[in-house]
Amino acid sequence: MCLEGIAEEAKACMKCDLGAGRHKTVPGEGPCDAEILLVGEAPGAEEDLSGRPFVGRAGKVLDRALAQAMLDRSKIFITSIIKCRPPGNRKPKVWEIEECIPLLQAQMGAIKPRAIGLMGNVAAKAVLGLEGVAGLHGQVFQDRYVITYHPAAILRRRELQEDLVSDLKKLKELSLSRK
Ligand code: URA
Repeated sequence: MCLEGIAEEAKACMKCDLGAGRHKTVPGEGPCDAEILLVGEAPGAEEDLSGRPFVGRAGKVLDRALAQAMLDRSKIFITSIIKCRPPGNRKPKVWEIEECIPLLQAQMGAIKPRAIGLMGNVAAKAVLGLEGVAGLHGQVFQDRYVITYHPAAILRRRELQEDLVSDLKKLKELSLSRK
């Protein structure tokens, strides 16, 4: 399925209660031939209003980390596990993830990225069934996944920025090594 088709499906989705409360769905953005895919948790308030991923405070942290890792955001596909904002930015529920994850799987299948960054525990758990970013970040799983901190975690603990940057560099290396 092409990315536009997946985005249209996300925009029309009413499979869980989040559909009724959203301003905009946030399917993700980036090129279809991206070599790197980044996956966050769920849209926040600014993403819900704009329909674009990582444009709020966490997005600024991500932009800075990408620049420090010498990665071009426009060449990366950026999305989240959940495509609609949970009220008050609460954690997505298990059943919401179950309803939404086929869209991410379709995006992975269409893009076929060489390297996938799972940002935060929700993404690591939903995709790989793994928990505990602090002990897992920076390692490569299944030859294409790298777990790292969610950029919002850096807003609370600035010292983690360095780890986020080094994990993004790892992702970049991985994407190049698989050429
Ligand atoms: N946090 C996420 O996980 N995704 C976004 O799009 C924005 C903030």
